[in-house]
Amino acid sequence: MIEVHGLSKNYGSFAAVRELSFTVRPGEVLGLVGPNGAGKTTTLRCVAGIIPASTGTVHIAGHDLATDPVAAKRALAFFPDEPRLFDYLTVKQHLAFVARIYGVTGHEAIAQPLLEELEIADKADQLPGALSRGMKQKLAIACGLLHRPSVMFFDEPLTGLDPLGIRRMKDSILQRARAGAAIVLSSHLLHLLEEVCSHVLILKQGEKIADGTIAEVAARFSNGEVGVNLEEVFIRATGGSEK
Ligand SMILES: Nc1ncnc2c1ncn2[C@@H]1O[C@H](COP(=O)(O)OP(=O)(O)OP(=O)(O)O)[C@@H](O)[C@H]1O
Ligand SMILES: [Mg+2]
Repeated sequence: MIEVHGLSKNYGSFAAVRELSFTVRPGEVLGLVGPNGAGKTTTLRCVAGIIPASTGTVHIAGHDLATDPVAAKRALAFFPDEPRLFDYLTVKQHLAFVARIYGVTGHEAIAQPLLEELEIADKADQLPGALSRGMKQKLAIACGLLHRPSVMFFDEPLTGLDPLGIRRMKDSILQRARAGAAIVLSSHLLHLLEEVCSHVLILKQGEKIADGTIAEVAARFSNGEVGVNLEEVFIRATGGSEK
C-alpha cells in the first residue's frame, strides 16, 4: 500500500511537484504519465526516499517514510531510469551484495530464478561493462526484486528492452501485482501502460490533472466518444489550455 498526501518538491525556488496526493492499494498498478519535465521522476524519487520531499507525507506499507525510513525502505524497491551498477562486481556479486544489505538469507535460491525470469542467467559471471543496456536494466531489476518488496516504483522500465523483453517485463509486473504488490510505473509508452495499469495519474507542470481507473480518466476526456485510447486522453489532457 502506498499513501501519498500533499507531496511537494521544490528545487530552490522552482516547484517541480505541487500538493500531490494519491493511494495505490495492494494489487493495483498506477501509471504515472505526463510530458517531459512534468515531475514524474521527482515524484518517484521522493516517494522512494531517494530525495527528501519539501512537504507532505508518504506511507509505504503502513510505515511513515519520514519517521520510520528503514522500515519503509525495506518494503519498497525503486527502479531508476538509469540503472546504477558497480563496475567491478559481476551479476552474481551484485545480487550477493544486495542480499547482504537487505539481510536476505539463502539468496541464491531467489536470485537464480530471478536471473532466469529476466533472461540474464547466462551472464551471471559477467561485469556490467560486458552487458548491453537492456541487460543492465534487467540486472538492476533483479537486484531490486531480491528482497521481495511489496511496493515498487518503476521509472521508465520498458525503454531499452526488446519486444520480448517488454512483454516479459509486463508479465513480471502483473504477476507481482496479482501477488499483492502495490506498483507505480512511469512511462511514455502509453499503449503498453494500458495493458499493465489498473489506474492512471496524469501530471502536468508538477500538478495532478486527473487520476482514477483508466476508464474513469478516459471518460473525463472523451467528450462522449467511445473507444478513446490513453494516448488521445494524454494529448487532450496535457496539450490544450485545460490547466
Ligand atoms: N536536481 C534538480 N535540480 C533542479 N531542477 C530539477 C532537478 N531535477 C529535476 N528538475 C526539474 O524538475 C522538473 C521535473 O523534472 P522530472 O525529472 O521530475 O520530470 P519527468 O516528468 O520525469 O520528465 P521526463 O518525462 O523527461 O523524464 C523539470 O522542470 C526539471 O528541470
Ligand atoms: Mg523522468
